[in-house]
Amino acid sequence: MTAQFHVPIAAGERETAAELQSMLVDLLDLALIGKQAHWNVEGRHFRSLHGELDELVDSWHALADVVAERAVSLGAAPDGQAETIAGSSQIEPLPGGHLDGADVVALMGDRLAEVIARVRERMTRIAAIDPVSEHVLIDVAATLEKQLWMLRAQRGDS
Ligand SMILES: [Fe+2]
Repeated sequence: MTAQFHVPIAAGERETAAELQSMLVDLLDLALIGKQAHWNVEGRHFRSLHGELDELVDSWHALADVVAERAVSLGAAPDGQAETIAGSSQIEPLPGGHLDGADVVALMGDRLAEVIARVRERMTRIAAIDPVSEHVLIDVAATLEKQLWMLRAQRGDS
């Protein structure tokens, strides 16, 4: 017997839940490629990038948790399984093999920028439907945009 923990999901909330689900997939896939880069980065800036990538992965997991739990709060069931991520992520995989530090900064920066563009589109779409979820996405955007700045600021000496 399943207890009713959630209010029935309304039409607008269904739309919001779909936006939160695609945000969840973006964040979980970012975390996956971030760990891939953490393991495979090489070169002069190995040590700092190796550590920074782990911090980014931790942050993306934490944001994914906030986004997923906002979806649950609306009555939706978030899906962060590998099959779902593989089937719906828009993030291009990293090249296989070892990666030079400067390439990692460019590859991760490009992917982060694409995710940021999608977050801002999602914010616009749900602003009038659910300002609370919009607020969650604004926090995600603020964090990702700061991370992009800090990542790209390293290009100057690479
Ligand atoms: Fe590690």
